[in-house]
Amino acid sequence: MAEQDAEPSGPDLSQGIAFADLADGAMLLGHVGDEEVMVARQGTELFAVGAHCSHYHGPLAEGLLVGDTVRCPWHHACFSLRTGEALAAPAFSAIDCWSVEQRDGKVFVKEKAAAKPSPKLSSKAPDRVVIVGGGAAGFAAAEMLRREQYKGSIVMLSNDDAAPVDRPNLSKDYLAGNAPEEWVPLRGDDFYSENGIDLRLKANVASIDARAHEVLLPDGSKVAYDRLLLATGAEPVRLPVPGAGPSQIHTLRSLADSRAIIERAKSAKRALVIGASFIGLEVAASLRHRGIEVHVVAPEKRPMERILGPGMGDFVRALHEEHGVVFHLEDTVAGIAGSKATLKSGGSLEADLVVMGVGVRPRLELAEKAGLKIDRGLAVDAFLATSAPDIHAAGDIARWPDPHSGQSIRVEHWVVAERQGQVAALNMLGLRQKFDAVPFFWSQHYDVPINYVGHAEKWDELLVDGDIASRDCLVRYKQGGRTLAAASIYRDVASLQEEVAMERQAA
Ligand SMILES: Cc1cc2nc3c(=O)[nH]c(=O)nc-3n(C[C@H](O)[C@H](O)[C@H](O)COP(=O)(O)OP(=O)(O)OC[C@H]3O[C@@H](n4cnc5c(N)ncnc54)[C@H](O)[C@@H]3O)c2cc1C
Ligand code: FES
Repeated sequence: MAEQDAEPSGPDLSQGIAFADLADGAMLLGHVGDEEVMVARQGTELFAVGAHCSHYHGPLAEGLLVGDTVRCPWHHACFSLRTGEALAAPAFSAIDCWSVEQRDGKVFVKEKAAAKPSPKLSSKAPDRVVIVGGGAAGFAAAEMLRREQYKGSIVMLSNDDAAPVDRPNLSKDYLAGNAPEEWVPLRGDDFYSENGIDLRLKANVASIDARAHEVLLPDGSKVAYDRLLLATGAEPVRLPVPGAGPSQIHTLRSLADSRAIIERAKSAKRALVIGASFIGLEVAASLRHRGIEVHVVAPEKRPMERILGPGMGDFVRALHEEHGVVFHLEDTVAGIAGSKATLKSGGSLEADLVVMGVGVRPRLELAEKAGLKIDRGLAVDAFLATSAPDIHAAGDIARWPDPHSGQSIRVEHWVVAERQGQVAALNMLGLRQKFDAVPFFWSQHYDVPINYVGHAEKWDELLVDGDIASRDCLVRYKQGGRTLAAASIYRDVASLQEEVAMERQAA
């Protein structure tokens, strides 16, 4: 996360820089006092904003200028250069804007400019919004409703016992012991009370009465809605393992799950990770960071080959092996007896910590019981509306018509869930906004981030620009000559450029 307290970089922008030094389309990092500021030029227009992304402090001057916005190089958040607003998740908080003056061939950054919020509230806003789910999509929706100056009631029902958390952190820095628990909540408790968001934890919604516009809780109480957002996410798949005790195999979705693994890891010496999924391997990396011996058992030949192709799969495997992970590929766990796991191949492993990461399944029970249209997920239209009036859906449960791939797709990506929550919020307010963001996800293994834009379930051509093993590459997944997706390592600007190209292709 953020490195703080360093000397501010670049020129003192309050003293001015030569206009000629700022090329059209360029960004430049400097400072005003001890605050780092980025100046940008787009044609004859000049902008100055805070230099760091409000998500994880990414360096915006190393991102991409697109019109009057800047995109963060790390996880593709987008900010308005005019207002500082975080236009697209994973950032929510605005960055500072500064006034800029051009005189005598120089550009001077003056003082911080007041924020200029531009709510889009429509006259069709409902009185009562209910959100089922306190995760990425649910949080982003509630935040956007209030950002848009929505004055009606927001009830957020979550069956978790923790307020919305930074879920990606649960398998990465938090699990590795590099991030304190204060970093995990998306917002402090005050945020909900101050913004009039009635967050009810441990509130397990039992059913929805779509006709009466009510959700029902197990104690028989009802919560009425005018607009409902379903954002129930997904739950880890649990494969049965003969002999394993009921709580012996950990899965990872919630803060409680991550805490339980950490607790066990305190005394564990050897861990078995079942499944070479993103989460499985991130857990492996975090447990290695804790000095635990880690064995990964998975049926595939190469980790992640299905999603990233063979070259990236080999790289990911080699990266983990460099850090001491032992793979048992093309194998499965046949049974567990005490601390001994037997493999289908006949071998056995000792493990005092077992984590299963074999994928997730969308939580569709509520939608199914309410009679909503299901299609390998909860079917929504381009506006994220379900088949029932006044019910929208977002996040891991939603299958939407993706204009870029031309298919209806469902993904399990943090940023997609948040952006869908944001768009669903606008649509619940009566605006008609299509969800047309290009899908994006990232994964982190040790010091290596992998970024992925687009969506390719299969491809007929795979082009590697750069060198995967040197951790400097952009891999394009193409079908019929068209780039469907691109994965990258340390090619952040190229990844952003691919994203923009995909957006323009579909437009
Ligand atoms: C450990 C981990 C690491 C990850 N890392 C990454 C990453 O690096 N990059 C990436 O792109 N994605 C990552 N993901 C995936 C990402 O977190 C999900 O795609 C995202 O959280 C989906 O958001 P969501 O709102 O749909 O669901 P969730 O965030 O899971 O939220 C669902 C919410 O609904 C609640 N709920 C469910 N049923 C009910 C009910 N009946 N009543 C009340 N509440 C209910 C749950 O308690 C939860 O609060 C990771 C996931 C995990 C688990
Ligand atoms: S640090 Fe900017 S999007 Fe994550």
